[in-house]
Amino acid sequence: MKPPAPPQGVPELPAEAGEALLDWFRTHARVLPWRTTPRDPWAVWVSEVMLQQTRVATVIPYFERFLTRWPDARALAASELDDLLGAWSGLGYYRRARALHAGAKAVAERSEGSLPTTFEELKKLPGIGDYTAAAIASLAHGERVAVVDGNVRRVIARLLALRGALDSSKDHARIRAIATRTMGQLPPGAFNEAMMELGATVCTPSSPRCETCPVAAWCVASRDGLQRELPETVRRPALKTVRSIAIVLRRANHLLLARHGTDGLFAGMWAPPMLPRPIRADARRALTSLAGGALRWDDAGRAGEVRHVLTHRVLEVEVVACRVDGAEGLPDLSGLPSVATDYSEARWFSLSELDGLALPALARKILHASKMIEVGSEGGVSREG
Ligand code: ADE
Repeated sequence: MKPPAPPQGVPELPAEAGEALLDWFRTHARVLPWRTTPRDPWAVWVSEVMLQQTRVATVIPYFERFLTRWPDARALAASELDDLLGAWSGLGYYRRARALHAGAKAVAERSEGSLPTTFEELKKLPGIGDYTAAAIASLAHGERVAVVDGNVRRVIARLLALRGALDSSKDHARIRAIATRTMGQLPPGAFNEAMMELGATVCTPSSPRCETCPVAAWCVASRDGLQRELPETVRRPALKTVRSIAIVLRRANHLLLARHGTDGLFAGMWAPPMLPRPIRADARRALTSLAGGALRWDDAGRAGEVRHVLTHRVLEVEVVACRVDGAEGLPDLSGLPSVATDYSEARWFSLSELDGLALPALARKILHASKMIEVGSEGGVSREG
């Protein structure tokens, strides 16, 4: 089939630039567990979702465990979301895991039971947008569609010295058109992955290594010494700070956790109860009585402060911790969710139960600050203490 005519007015890089990029990729591509021959569409999907906000080195062990446990979309679709969130624990941005689960369920419901193979069909699945659809369609099926992520955007902005922040949907479409045109007749999967690889390993945000770049000879930014200034960044307003107080209660070998409701950032996940600051009198009373009066709310009783930066907010969490005495029956928690409207339930967890649980990174930071249990850097919870 003849390729569609390139759009008018879209800048083009010479074909030799694309070929030089591919030659470089053939010899310099990192060996990564999802780069199999042939490419498995499910592995592409999982790896690209994990890589969206997380570094390669962090992703590798998660990816390997994930594919062993869920070798295809149907296997994931048959699992509980809680199991997936538990396996995702430590990767952050849990919305990605929920979207992957929803997408896998939609695949399992298809009459074929397998993933669609084209960009347009893939995009119809819940949780799959342009980026993931283009990655699966091109890497696993050779479809001629460009992948555009932050790396590709940066590479193209520098190659052509494009001005502006390039973050509107119009900019996005322009970058995609340029990438598609540059791809030309080169193999789509290799071209896309080479662009991402170049952005990730050579054309990096703050210290681009132009001296080793395979396409430096065609790069306007490098020629004009603009590589550190492009793409231009827009000043964003300061992030809003949200203050709360987290209460860590330990009783013998048990820890009190509350589960966030179905909406919001931590939907469905467990964490020590977090209440807005200043804390409401009824919440304070409920927790004080749970702790048998042993909670000290004054400055001296604070275990620490945790700061957690999210995309749109900064959370400042004061941590109050205390051991509740007595080994006999655990106090009743039935009234606890009502002290913070977005909790669906609260439970005492034995420390051995914490390992497989979906604990968001923030919860781990809080537990670490509380000094009530030992929390490893990977999120493992020590049963000692
Ligand atoms: N970053 C995200 N996806 C990537 C890929 N497939 N190759 C290199 N870097 C990436």
